[in-house]
Amino acid sequence: MTTTGNAKPSRLSPEAVPRRDWLGLSAMWSMGAAMAFSLIGMLRLPKAAVLSSPSKKFRVTLPASLNAGEAFVPPGRTVAVFKDAEGVHAISTVCTHLGCVIKPVAEGFECPCHGSQFHGDGSVKRGPAPRALPWLKVTASGGNLMVDEGAVVPAGTKVNV
Ligand code: FES
Repeated sequence: MTTTGNAKPSRLSPEAVPRRDWLGLSAMWSMGAAMAFSLIGMLRLPKAAVLSSPSKKFRVTLPASLNAGEAFVPPGRTVAVFKDAEGVHAISTVCTHLGCVIKPVAEGFECPCHGSQFHGDGSVKRGPAPRALPWLKVTASGGNLMVDEGAVVPAGTKVNV
């Protein structure tokens, strides 16, 4: 809409912006937005994008009240540690079906996600879990027990303490 004479442009009938000016303003705002986003990206660079995770190898102190064959799950870990007359062993508590954390029960382990059941030695009692739970490496030195969640050992491997 064009204004005639001395009529001032109002909010309801603003003065028309020439197309060339409008394109210039658009280009300037686009460039400003691109620079702002690139600045945000550069400011994020010093911060690590990868979260640190705890070591897969950790020390375990078994409670004195732990009975033979009873599972001890260290806080924050996905491992069940057992002690019996033959020694100490550790079994992963990550379900071999889709990776849920399973819970030790009186007769072995149960997965809360899809109902898989495992015997106390980690073998599958009831699916859908396709494989037995892996046994994990346990080492003992100087009275300390170390469990390595990243090292699988053959089932039945126990460490004398
Ligand atoms: S994740 Fe354990 S049964 Fe599916």
